[in-house]
Amino acid sequence: MPVLEFIDVRRNYPGTAAVDGVSLSVPAGQLLALVGRSGCGKSTLLNLAGAMDFPTSGTVQIDGQATRGLNDAALTKLRREKIGFIFQSFQLLPNLTAAENVELPLLLSGQPRARAQALDRLARVELAGLGHRYPHQLSGGQMQRVAIARALVHRPSLLLADEPIGNLDSATGTTILALLRRIVDEEKATIVMATHSAESTAVADRVIEMRDGRILSAA
Ligand SMILES: Nc1ncnc2c1ncn2[C@@H]1O[C@H](COP(=O)(O)OP(=O)(O)O)[C@@H](O)[C@H]1O
Ligand SMILES: [Mg+2]
Repeated sequence: MPVLEFIDVRRNYPGTAAVDGVSLSVPAGQLLALVGRSGCGKSTLLNLAGAMDFPTSGTVQIDGQATRGLNDAALTKLRREKIGFIFQSFQLLPNLTAAENVELPLLLSGQPRARAQALDRLARVELAGLGHRYPHQLSGGQMQRVAIARALVHRPSLLLADEPIGNLDSATGTTILALLRRIVDEEKATIVMATHSAESTAVADRVIEMRDGRILSAA
């Protein structure tokens, strides 16, 4: 069963179809790069994939479960258990330490040993020993590593990344891409990443180009 499936998905905004009839199947263990110029629908597609938004028509399935028609409790559970999200702007909580940011998803879902798991996750993104730091005490690359640790700590089926290296210098961006690649290879994670950078497509298993809400090429 694919981790993510879009079946003829449309998402209309007034005056525009941000996603316009997309069908797409993403198997487990794939690193998929979504490319295309600004406004082509990448973020809309990721939000649909993360059950943060819902299709106007068509179906989005995560691990075989349709995102539309779920009640609030089921939706919260789906997002907490199945989805991890990382952003260009990192979106760390500034008043929490790195370790506290990473353990938050576990605390929200009532899991035991949250701190130990968070520290283990931080070590896997090469931030062992920095768990006590606040975001403002970290570099951009380190902040994105914390965000990656947070997005993966609950072992989601799907990691969604919206321009994850867009705010980083190119050398740092390269190390973040290498980290995402390693996570896919070592943990069989599944990642869908919206990106502008040619470098991102080099680490991807598959590149899909969007234009005006549609998929142009699906290699
Ligand atoms: N909340 C919204 N309300 C109205 N239009 C939107 C909204 N979000 C996105 N759009 C429009 O949908 C299209 C796709 O946007 P987006 O998914 O953000 O593209 P990308 O991430 O590729 O830059 C654009 O035309 C954008 O203006
Ligand atoms: Mg975008």
